[in-house]
Amino acid sequence: MQEACAHPLPLVPRDRCGSIMQMNDPAPALAFDDVSKRFGRVTAVDGVTLRVAAGEFLAIVGGSGSGKTTLLRLANRLIDADGGAVRVFGDDVRHLDPIALRRRIGYVFQSGGLFPHMTVADNIGITPHLVGTPAADIAARVDELIDLVRLDRGRHRDAFPHQLSGGERQRVGVARALAAKPRMVLLDEPFGALDPLTRDALGEDYRRLHRDLSLTTVMITHDMAEAVLLADRIAVMRGGRLLAQGNASDLAASEDPYVRALLRTPRRQAERLRDLLPPLADAAS
Ligand SMILES: Nc1ncnc2c1ncn2[C@@H]1O[C@H](COP(=O)(O)OP(=O)(O)OP(=O)(O)O)[C@@H](O)[C@H]1O
Ligand SMILES: [Mg+2]
Repeated sequence: MQEACAHPLPLVPRDRCGSIMQMNDPAPALAFDDVSKRFGRVTAVDGVTLRVAAGEFLAIVGGSGSGKTTLLRLANRLIDADGGAVRVFGDDVRHLDPIALRRRIGYVFQSGGLFPHMTVADNIGITPHLVGTPAADIAARVDELIDLVRLDRGRHRDAFPHQLSGGERQRVGVARALAAKPRMVLLDEPFGALDPLTRDALGEDYRRLHRDLSLTTVMITHDMAEAVLLADRIAVMRGGRLLAQGNASDLAASEDPYVRALLRTPRRQAERLRDLLPPLADAAS
């Protein structure tokens, strides 16, 4: 597997090596070295060491309050670490201007985070607007992004966030994160509150964008099944610590009872569904 993948992170599944092998950047896209963050008495992130290779899709899984959002926010200096170092494409983020750094990294917020008083087009174009991109170029980029995330220019371009469904809002969030052509995108539970079909479609669509745009992606999810289906590698957090990391097979081999419990649910569901769901009449198999 290592030879087939020729990649510094041998845990990436063989069939997903393609996008990563295009990248020959030796520095990891994102590196946490013994990083800690406290809020008063709460240690939200506790000595985490984790690397994300350029072109990799990493999912972070863990229960509520396990430190997932805090870890992501440390990457683009929405907050600063108390200890350890965070590097983005080799640069220690402490030496980078936070605003410039945030423009280099797309971020999809846990709550959606769209500006309610701004149209879809203005939400998507906010970063290009802030860096002084000419209006005509922004308009063209917005149209391109609306197509990319499979929204409808006619229906959605001038709509306000409250006029959209949850799934449409999340698509706008992804489009906005991609507006400044970042090499890395961080997504905080982007598909959490959606119905299963929309969630599945958005996940697959995002995976396609990740591949086609050669992105590095870090996505937080509560859902181990989603992580297994979408990501190259999974990091499991609990109580601010990184419990395990690797692909699904690596995690299945983990001795940690929490990691094992997390994997048990999707496996049980898959087994029950196989027994309960007859094949669809129009399915090929
Ligand atoms: N700004 C803050 N001030 C004080 N405590 C905070 C702050 N941000 C996070 N925390 C605490 O740090 C811990 C980790 O929070 P974090 O938001 O990273 O969790 P999470 O894993 O993203 O959870 P969820 O799945 O519910 O979003 C929690 O105990 C939380 O209460
Ligand atoms: Mg969170």
